[in-house]
This record gives sequence, structure tokens and C-alpha cells, in this order.
Amino acid sequence: MNDLLKHQKQDTGPVECLGIKFPNEQARREHFLKVLAEKLRDPKFRKQDGFPTGTDEAILAMSDPPYYTACPNPFLQDFVRHYGKQYDPSVKYSREPQTVDVTVGKTDALYKAHSYHTKVPHLAIVPSILHYTEPGDIVLDAFGGSGMTGVAAQWCGLAPLAYRHEVEMEWKKQGKPAPKWGARRAVINDLSPAATFIGANYNIPVDVEAFAKAGKQLLKELEQDIGWMYETTHSDGKTKGQIEYTVWSEVFTCPDCAGEVNFLDEALDEDSKSVRDDFPCPHCGAELTKKKLEKLFETTADPVTGKAIKTAKRVPSLISYIVNGKKYEKKPDSNDRQVLGKIALIPFPASFPSNRMMHAPEEQKKWGDKWRAGSASFSHVHHLFLPRSAQAIGTLWEKANQYPDQRIRAFLLYMVEQSIWGFSILNRYRLRAYSHVNQYLTGVYYVPSQCAEPAPSYNLGGKLDRLIKAFREFRSSNGNALITTGTAANLSLANSSIDYIFTDPPFGDNLAYSELNFIVEAFHRVFTHQGPEAVMSDSQQKGLHEYYRLMKACFSEYYRVLKPGRWMTVVFSNTQAAVWNGIRTALQEAGFVIANVSALNKVQGSFNAVSNATSVKQDLVITAYKPNGGLEDRFVKSEGHIDSVWDFVRTHLGYLPSVKMRAGELEFIQERDPRIIFDRMVAWFVKHGFAVPLSSQEFQAGLMQRFESRDGMTFLPEQAAEYDKKRMQVASAPQMEMFVSDERSAIDWLADFLKKRPSTYAEITPEYMPVVGAAKKKGEVIPELIRLLDENFIQFDGKGEVPSQIHSYLSTNHKDLRGLDKTSPQLIAKAKDRWYVPDPNKAQDLEKKRERALLKEFEGYADAAGRKLKEFRLEVLRSGFKVAWANKDYQTIIKVAQKIPEEALQEDEKLLLWYDQALTRSEGSA
Ligand SMILES: C[S@@+](CC[C@H](N)C(=O)[O-])C[C@H]1O[C@@H](n2cnc3c(N)ncnc32)[C@H](O)[C@@H]1O
Repeated sequence: MNDLLKHQKQDTGPVECLGIKFPNEQARREHFLKVLAEKLRDPKFRKQDGFPTGTDEAILAMSDPPYYTACPNPFLQDFVRHYGKQYDPSVKYSREPQTVDVTVGKTDALYKAHSYHTKVPHLAIVPSILHYTEPGDIVLDAFGGSGMTGVAAQWCGLAPLAYRHEVEMEWKKQGKPAPKWGARRAVINDLSPAATFIGANYNIPVDVEAFAKAGKQLLKELEQDIGWMYETTHSDGKTKGQIEYTVWSEVFTCPDCAGEVNFLDEALDEDSKSVRDDFPCPHCGAELTKKKLEKLFETTADPVTGKAIKTAKRVPSLISYIVNGKKYEKKPDSNDRQVLGKIALIPFPASFPSNRMMHAPEEQKKWGDKWRAGSASFSHVHHLFLPRSAQAIGTLWEKANQYPDQRIRAFLLYMVEQSIWGFSILNRYRLRAYSHVNQYLTGVYYVPSQCAEPAPSYNLGGKLDRLIKAFREFRSSNGNALITTGTAANLSLANSSIDYIFTDPPFGDNLAYSELNFIVEAFHRVFTHQGPEAVMSDSQQKGLHEYYRLMKACFSEYYRVLKPGRWMTVVFSNTQAAVWNGIRTALQEAGFVIANVSALNKVQGSFNAVSNATSVKQDLVITAYKPNGGLEDRFVKSEGHIDSVWDFVRTHLGYLPSVKMRAGELEFIQERDPRIIFDRMVAWFVKHGFAVPLSSQEFQAGLMQRFESRDGMTFLPEQAAEYDKKRMQVASAPQMEMFVSDERSAIDWLADFLKKRPSTYAEITPEYMPVVGAAKKKGEVIPELIRLLDENFIQFDGKGEVPSQIHSYLSTNHKDLRGLDKTSPQLIAKAKDRWYVPDPNKAQDLEKKRERALLKEFEGYADAAGRKLKEFRLEVLRSGFKVAWANKDYQTIIKVAQKIPEEALQEDEKLLLWYDQALTRSEGSA
């Protein structure tokens, strides 16, 4: 037995769980594991949508019931029944929508304790939980990822005094009473077992001191077992050095002499640590560049299956090592190569995962959206690991897995799994990087030409200390969080049982979670069930419509389980208007009423930068509520009568803030704009299957009669009084925001915005997205922002003089840029990539360019097969009809007109006129 196994199981003393008393945590765990094991044998239980793929044994090994199960948690209802408060309509509850700043807390040690795709920091969530809930309330996040909502809920009871003081002062400034401190309870769900395993380890308490001991012992034993693999000889020829990392380089061939070229060896300039653009071939002297080289492939035996496989040839090029605390670098010598050769002959550890990526059948070459042709393609999990790294991670995993105490075992695995990607060949070698750990590109499987293979101490050493420190300060409690694995569309929760929802769903096609989590899940041997994954994905054949349908199912479930009158905060990152529209519609169709939309994070995103140049991480926050039971009942009884329009508006206005201030100025509250209130009302009627009994004009007129209007916003009488009071204290009325409801108004909004502030795409997006409403006409699409910009505005490419529009904006708004010449490099750097409104001369050119693009699209409409166009742009139709008219091409006008919905034609004067005239003329000529 090794030393790690000698550790005793932790005795925690008596505990109570879901009303049952146990002598200790171990007994509690054994009891619930037995119940879970029985459940797992029930085929009906396993048949649920979203049930992960894995054996009973593997699921039980990950789980710590009832607090965590790596499958739908059968104790969920009991948990909420036991700890929650039943919905009682007589209990008064009222809150105004509050927005979130997701940029907060990204450097916090606890946030950084374990990474996950698009993590929302717990410190960004805490203020919302404090605002919407009371201690002991139950918060839900069913797209919970790494479980930060649970951490935030518990943190409300653990916040240090300094933090509490800061929040209390801030709230006082806003005129709000101090928050009620104390832990809330959380229910965290995710489809991916890799995600919920992180969530569970974040939220379930751990004996940190026991973990510290076990972690140190684990690394020590690893060193004893495989330390020899990471030794090298110093330049003196005798002293032993400890390797930190080894750089592996792919081998290429020279196009002239076909000789082998190690790119790093030939192109690296040692002194400047930079890669030369061109360099001579070491064999024939021909001038080479990276582009000219051809990758060399070799056929080897698969280290696990033994079958012949073709891979890019990769050789060790550089070793970074330490002698007496000092860092050195060397080229691998014959001894190093000998050691590596010896390691390559050792079989991969027995438990090393060798699954085919995404379980793709043998005959199917591609395995998912992240599959790439060429050298980056790999078909099995173990193809991502060099032999020595496979020994390191495999040994670590096996040793951690043998630890007797379940809780410490899970936490050791939680530490070890974080090094998996860093040990793989995805870990890029970046010349001037400060550290060579975890340098993989996030959000994709990108296999670089040069990778850094770290030693375990280099990869994991600091991590252990950081985990110990973070969890010494975060002392969570059992019973405060329950973590479950399954689809958000099917939660075994009672109706109206949740007090608040904070959630961060997948954003269209931004990330392929199940693919990205596959490697870690392969180590756990429990995999995401892809079917209900709410993403847009080519390989899963899920387009916008499927994504929308899946999101709607999830939001409907959220609606069912949330208590009436309660709130949901949805954080959303996507810059595509179509995806954004889909989310908003899905929410409303599920029954939620949107009360606020705001844009936040303006930080440049890091993921998917390779595949999408306009990919910017933009966080929008939607705040929505489930109307209280009264409105719903009255609505159904009235069968959508006209009175229920005003009933809805009255109730809805009650949920909106009366006053919004920013920097001492009153802000325009967009949700009080009559046009938006109309949209919300329409969505509510549509969701309940009733026809809307009023036209937009009738609605506006009725609104004016029944409610108070101030500065373009609608209020209830008592809210208007509150607004008036504030209005008297400030100098000016808030600026009414323009509202984008079709392509024309989108262009107008952009022109207005860019006139005031020539901006980059990343700066425009967060301002633009919240003002975009749904297109008013059925089938009409508002083009994506980048296209609108491209067709109507000009982007400064950084060449030549800075355009005067940008020059005057920058010199007025930036002190340091004042008085600079239009050719000043400093000014050019700041002006580069900004979009601006063209001056009238150039506008003509642009107009021509736009016209050409519109006509091209119009030709597509005319040629499109089928009787009806699913989507169209009014601007395209207008341009197309105009030109066809001028060309006396009446048939094209008629043909296209018949492909668009009748009302789109009827509601657009110009289109109707051309169509009518075309009909008359063509009849005349027939
Ligand atoms: C944006 S991430 C959430 C990240 C999280 N906020 C955090 O801080 O770690 C979205 C998550 O939704 C999960 N997901 C996708 N489809 C789902 C479904 N139908 N039900 C539940 N979770 C789903 C993905 O596995 C992913 O972890």
C-alpha cells in the first residue's frame, strides 16, 4: 500500500441530512450512495433526456449524494421541500430590476481556483442574490457550468466585513436599505458532468488541511515514481537538472531538397527570442519561410490500440530546466533522447482514456464542430498526449483516484483535472510567454506546431498552494447547495418552488461545450448527453431554429419552477442579432416578461478569435419576471379581452423602476417607452394564444389616456409622482433613446451614434444590441451589425491621414490627443479600426457600393426556389423594385412581390405602389 492510501478516512462527527441523522459524513454518503445505486438500476430513471453516458460505477464514483450526483439528482425535490419555503401568494414581495456587472471579481483567487468556459465570477452574482432574495431562499442556475451561482449564494453568508461595509455604503447611496446578509441555498444544474463535477467541488465543503496533506503527498509520490523522466544533465556534463518544460516542434520538409527542417531549430533567434521570417535550409541553403515548408507526416503504432496511425512528426527541440534554483535552456542531447525513447516504450497507464472523440463511429472521419483537417486532426483522446505526459497525468489520476476518503479523493481529482489540457499537445509554446502552462487556445482544439510539454511540478506545483489558500477562506456548508447533472428543460422540481434564477446559458454557436468537455469527461468516464445541448452546431445539425426550440424548452422549465412574481437574471454573450432575437423571443414565449436589458462587459473576448474576427465578448443582461398568479388568472378568464391589455400594462409598469440615475443624471428607462411596452404586451398575448385586440396606434392612444406620461416614458400615477420629485432635482430631462425596429432605423441609429462617437466594432456592439427590437414585419430581418456597418459606413484602416470626423472626436475627448496632426502615429493608433459616417462626397461612393450589394441580394430573392421567401430585407426589396421599375422589368417585381407576405407589401407604401403599377403595366402589355 502506498503512503497516500495509508491516510485514514476523515471522521466528521454526527451530521443531519434531509431530516435524517447520521453518525458522520461517511455514513450519510454510504446511505445515499446505496439509494442512488438502486435508482441507477431503474431503466426509467436512466431514460430521462439529458442523462449522461456512463456506467453505474463511473457515475457513483463521481457523485457525493444527496449533494451531488453526476446524473439527474433524485434527491432534488426532497432538498427543496426540506429547505425551501412554499409559495404563499399572501407574502408580499416586490423588487425593481437590477443589473449586473460581470466584469467584477475576475482576479479573485476563488474565481480562479478552477477554470471553465465563460465563467461568471461569483462576486458579480452576489449583489443580485442579495437584492432579490433573503437568507435561506433558494436560487437556481440550470446552466450552472462551474457552479459560481452556488458559490455566490453561499458567499452571501461568508462575506468579510470590509466587503459588507462597501456594499452597504453603495446601497445607501442608491437609497436602498442594507442587504440581509446570510447564506442562500443553491440548486445548480448542467448538462455536462465535467461542469457539475467542478460545481460540486466548488460548493461542497472540504477539509482543506486534509486535502493539503493529501495533495502534497500525491505530488511527492509522483516525483518518486516518475521523477527520473524529468531529469536532464547540465552543461557541466555531470550536475542533474530538473526539467520545467520541453518544447516539441513539428518537422517540415524543404520544397527544394526535401530535407527535414525543424522549424524551431532553424527559425528561432536565440538572442531576441523571436522567429525569423526567412531562414536558410540547413541542407541546401535555399531561402525558406514558414509558408514554403511542408509538414512531414509519419506512420507509427498507436500507443494504445497498436494500430498504424499517421501523425505529424514531432521532435524535442528545447529543454528548460533548473539547477540550484537557476533557470537554463539547452538543446536535447543523446541522453535526453534516450530517456524519451525509453518512456515511449512504456505502455500508457491502464486506465488512460482512449475513447474516439465524441464516440464517433470508426468509419466516420469527422467527429464534431471542432474537428480540423490536416495535422490538427486527431481521432482519439490519447492522441493528444505525448508518452511522458501520458505517464504523468495517468499516474496522477490513478493515484488520486485511490485515495480512500471520497471527499478528499474528489478534490484531488478536481486539482488534477485542471492540468489535463496543459499536459496535452494543445499547450502552445509561446516564445516570450511568462509561463508555459495552460497556453492552449480556449474554446477550440488547436494543435500548434510547437508545443510546450510541462513537468508535473511546473504544471501543478503552484496550483496546490493556490487551492489551499482559496478554500481556507471559503468555508461552505453541507446543505447549502445541491448539484445535479441533466438538461435544464427537465428539472425534477415542484412548480413555483424557486425564489430567484441567475443564469448564463450557451450563446448560439459560440462554444461547443460537449466537445470541449469531452477530454476531461473521458478521464471521468461519464459523458454529456448531446441531444438536449442548447447550441448551434453543424455536427449536431442544430441551426438557429433548433437552438431556439431548445432554449424555449429550458426557459419554459424555468418559468414553471419559479415562484410567481419572482425574478430571473439572464447573462448573455453573443453579438449576432439573430441569436439575440431568438433568446428574447424564447423567453417571452415561455411566459416571462422582460423588464430590463442592459449591456455590460466591453472587454475584448479571447475565445474563437481564430475562427471569427468579429467575435467580441459582449455581455448583455436581461432581467425578466414571472408575472404573479393574479394577472395570469384574470387574463385567462377574460379570454384576452381588451381590458386585459390595460391590466397587463398596469402590472408590468409596477415591475419597472421609477427612476434610474447615472452620474447624477436621470437616465431614460427604455422599458417605459410606449413602443417597447406595446412589444411586451403583444408577446404576452401571443404566448397565451390570443389575438392582439389593438393596433399599435390604438394602443398608444389608450396608454396616453390611462397612464401618466413623462419625457417619453409611461408611468403609474404613484411612480410618476416619484419621478417628478427626482426630475425637479436635476437640470435636464433624460435623452430619449432611438429604438431600432428595422434596417432603416438601425442605420439611422448607427449614423447618429457614430456622428457623436466614431467607434470600433467592439465599442459599438454593447450600445447597439440593447436598442435592437424585433423586426416589425413578419419575415423581415435586420442585417447583422457588421454588415450594416460595412454597407453604410467607413472604417479607418490606419493608413494615411486620420479622417476629420475621427480627428475632431478624439481631440475633443482625449486630452493627450489634443492638437495632434492628422498624421501623428499616436492619433492614428487610436483612430485605427473606428467606424465613422462618411462625408457627403464619399457617401456617394458608399451609396453605390450599398446599392450593388442590395441588388445582388435582390437577384437572389428573384432566383430563390420555393413559393415564399422565409426571410427578407425591406431595403433590398425597395432597391430591387426601384431598379426593376426603371428597367421596365415588371415581371420581376410581380414574381418577387408574390414571394413575400401580403402584409409586408401592404404596409410599405412604396413597394405596394411599384407592385400595383407593375401589375397594371404588365396587364396592359399582355
Ligand atoms: C455559458 S456556460 C455557463 C458557465 C457558468 N456561468 C460558469 O460560471 O461556469 C453554459 C453551460 O450550459 C450548459 N448546457 C448546454 N445545454 C444545456 C441544457 N440543455 N441544459 C443544461 N445545461 C446546458 C453547457 O454545458 C455549459 O456548461
